[in-house]
Amino acid sequence: MLFKQQAWLRQKLLVLGSLAVGSLLYLVARVGSLDRLQPICPIEGRLGGARSQAEFPLRALQFKRGLLHEFRKGNASKEQVRLHDLVQQLPKAIIIGVRKGGTRALLEMLNLHPAVVKASQEIHFFDNDENYGKGIEWYRKKMPFSYPQQITIEKSPAYFITEEVPERIYKMNSSIKLLIIVREPTTRAISDYTQVLEGKERKNKTYYKFEKLAIDPNTCEVNTKYKAVRTSIYTKHLERWLKYFPIEQFHVVDGDRLITEPLPELQLVEKFLNLPPRISQYNLYFNATRGFYCLRFNIIFNKCLAGSKGRIHPEVDPSVITKLHKFFHPFNQKFYQITGRTLNWP
Ligand code: A3P
Repeated sequence: MLFKQQAWLRQKLLVLGSLAVGSLLYLVARVGSLDRLQPICPIEGRLGGARSQAEFPLRALQFKRGLLHEFRKGNASKEQVRLHDLVQQLPKAIIIGVRKGGTRALLEMLNLHPAVVKASQEIHFFDNDENYGKGIEWYRKKMPFSYPQQITIEKSPAYFITEEVPERIYKMNSSIKLLIIVREPTTRAISDYTQVLEGKERKNKTYYKFEKLAIDPNTCEVNTKYKAVRTSIYTKHLERWLKYFPIEQFHVVDGDRLITEPLPELQLVEKFLNLPPRISQYNLYFNATRGFYCLRFNIIFNKCLAGSKGRIHPEVDPSVITKLHKFFHPFNQKFYQITGRTLNWP
């Protein structure tokens, strides 16, 4: 009898123990990594919103991310939107470029922050006349649902190089924060070429070698008509933006460092956006198979960027590389001077 009772008790304890461990694991996963065991820190008042800060601690926002994710997939009913006070907000910050600078990685990594909500798709509102013609409400409706205290960020790298965009963004919000992620210009140009090449190969088309496009065969000089070269002359594009926005509204992200050492770059962005620091080393782990850092939201959910990010570049004639380095050098110096950020480019 006593033996039977003991066995029954052991069994009960085992069930209770498993339940406790299971619940704990679930809670850890739900709360996520970003705010782990840290004191609740309200988002700074300047992020705006109708409710008081104390009502929206970051941890609560983090807790609700799963919910937002569902809504972002278009599953929110009008009732749910009303119930949760969800809004579609115009971006308070935009990653304006540069193409192949690491714009997707930057957006996804910033989205680890509980106060940031990303627009998943490139919206191309300001660079595409047809979209722009649809008006600002159309643009706002393209934004994800968020809580009023969060900030929405979108990225469309074509904005950086498109003539009309600075004025159009200025008209929407003259105090918006602008993020530019740059890589060493020659590497960026080769990355740009690699993307186009892959597109051609997918369609079974042939394409020129990079050397042929980057160097003018008549003059043997760098071909400034080649778009991949022109895009890498960062200072030329930035100067157009500076006709509308003061330099303080820009933050330059070092795209090469974001690859090798993402956290310090992200911390600089958090500061620029006046966000409390919440992205930690826990959120970023190096994946040796991919050869890149991947994202960890919590113990259950993590992801790497798609295979289209981090392509293998073709080998380029070293003399062409040297020529390009020399060509970009004076533009780079000017870029450092204007932005106040010196990067160790050749
Ligand atoms: P490559 O494909 O040349 O390596 P964009 O998103 O602006 O198109 O930039 C793509 C580049 O982001 C990639 O260029 C890659 O090097 C870089 N990148 C930076 N961090 C990355 C990450 N964690 N995972 C994958 N690619 C990353």
